[in-house]
Amino acid sequence: MCGIIGYKGARNANEVVLKGLKQLEYRGYDSWGIASLSDGINVVKKVGKISGVDDAGLGESRIAIGHTRWATHGGVTESNAHPHVSSDGKIAVIHNGIIENYYELRVFLRKEGFKFKSETDTEVIPCLVEYFMKNGSSFEDAFREMLLKLKGSYAIVAVNSDKDKMLVARKASPIVIGVGQDEFFVASDVPAFLEYTNKVIFIEDNDIVEINSKVEIENVVLGKKVDREIVEIDYDIDQAQKGKYEHFMLKEIYEQPDAIRETIRGRVNGARVEFEKFGLSDDYIAGVERVVIIACGTSWHAGIVGKFMIEALGKIPVEVDYSSEFRYRNPVIDDKTLVVAISQSGETADTLAAIKEAKSKGAKVLSVCNVMGSSVARESDETIYTRAGIEIGVASTKAFTSQLAVLYLFGVYVAQIRKTWDKDHLKERLEYLEKIPEQMEKVLKGDKEIIAAAEKHFLKKNALYLGRGTNYPVALEGALKLKEVSYIHAEGYPAAEMKHGPIALIDNKMPVVVVAVQDESYEKIKSNIEEIRARGGIVINVATEGDKKIKDISDIVLYVPETSGLAYPFLTVMPLQLLAYHIAKFRECDIDQPKNLAKSVTVE
Ligand code: M6R
Repeated sequence: MCGIIGYKGARNANEVVLKGLKQLEYRGYDSWGIASLSDGINVVKKVGKISGVDDAGLGESRIAIGHTRWATHGGVTESNAHPHVSSDGKIAVIHNGIIENYYELRVFLRKEGFKFKSETDTEVIPCLVEYFMKNGSSFEDAFREMLLKLKGSYAIVAVNSDKDKMLVARKASPIVIGVGQDEFFVASDVPAFLEYTNKVIFIEDNDIVEINSKVEIENVVLGKKVDREIVEIDYDIDQAQKGKYEHFMLKEIYEQPDAIRETIRGRVNGARVEFEKFGLSDDYIAGVERVVIIACGTSWHAGIVGKFMIEALGKIPVEVDYSSEFRYRNPVIDDKTLVVAISQSGETADTLAAIKEAKSKGAKVLSVCNVMGSSVARESDETIYTRAGIEIGVASTKAFTSQLAVLYLFGVYVAQIRKTWDKDHLKERLEYLEKIPEQMEKVLKGDKEIIAAAEKHFLKKNALYLGRGTNYPVALEGALKLKEVSYIHAEGYPAAEMKHGPIALIDNKMPVVVVAVQDESYEKIKSNIEEIRARGGIVINVATEGDKKIKDISDIVLYVPETSGLAYPFLTVMPLQLLAYHIAKFRECDIDQPKNLAKSVTVE
């Protein structure tokens, strides 16, 4: 949460930072600010989004830092927006993360005569640097001494009005360095500077970086200078643009066929799955007794579908836990437990902490991640990357289906090692998967019916989503999408659970979206639909193409092509994503940046 960017080089730093902040706005968008060095520190801060701002009014500069905020401590006000500046006006800081002991540090600094202008946890950072400098330390030493006082998580960039450099520190919050030709960037995420360079240094926790005419990195825990590799990222800058689409969410929904093609490319070979490199040995996979999937939000929903896939194919028991619960419940796991961590961003704080917890108990961690070099990938024993490309819309769409593709492949991979199914069966499973992109394209062609359904129901206040088996997590995901982008209250349930409570809500104002495809639970779910209709509920069914009879028990039918039980979620989630999108559009919501949300949840 929060986007940070800094630039040092020959370009106008204020322009680079302003542009970079626009690319990072998906990380937080309640307020923004820039501090620029030219004849002292000049600061601009504003409440609201940066997207419409063409000029921050800061003129020319060679060093600048900027921040787009997702509020944690203190309301959405100009004074709480970053950058924060020391009392003497000489140090400016941007920060992502949470300083847990900020209150104690404020008390200490107040006693030393400091006055605070904001309610944030961040303001103690420049004040501490100033405090140590007043006691005789250099800027660099004061920065180090300040870090020793902090408890919590941070990515920090600091500048000093008297020095031609940026200082950067990282602990459990994402930050990367971009290396151009005699110019340097520092940002929460690569797209912020991808226009200028694709050469990146991923820094580690407890690294301090000095960006001057070169990049020097020291790790405070190791107590010495360290070399970090420069890697070339093969992101395409066009992926970070909306192109012909009105919103990133819609673009990303439409990118799903290609995202799946990419994710399975080179990994399917007849009846076999082969990962490009895989650090977990066959012997290890053969000996795994239990899989525990950890994730948050949409990735957690993918995890539940993954449970069905891995259990059905690999025949290993799988549990799915929220990362936030797993990390604190002293989970019973050991070296025979494979923990699978799913994260689009690779920076979700709870998932990162859960990975550390799993590793401390001797489990191996395999991550499913979309961002190369992200913290989750680096903390894991092995990573299978989804190749969905940059996902910018806050509501996750193509990352979800790409995660499903990896979990499906992994299920087959486990099956071939553990010999749980014969070749023909696995070949058939993979053929279903390979057909998915084309079938997704067909679903996208049915957009008109979905728009009509959205137009009919966009004023409703509540909605229920039901599904069974592999489509029960799809129902959860459909409800989450609607909540996130349209602010309509929606609940997802396994369909049979309806009778145990939610049925009380059903009346003629309640739309119930039912995933009722012709899989193993088709007959059962039809009975659930009858129960809804008997109580006057409005039934929107997602059904299998060619199922004409379903019309008799539907107010609206949205069709998807026929596939296997395990592969249906790839297709059934798409009408639900589109329904949420179009309802939000009719309601004139801010689809790509819904209120209160941020793309990457880097705080607990
Ligand atoms: O980056 P991650 O996959 O770890 O993120 C997890 C959730 O924060 C994320 O899926 C969130 O629920 C999305 N906004 C859902 O659309």
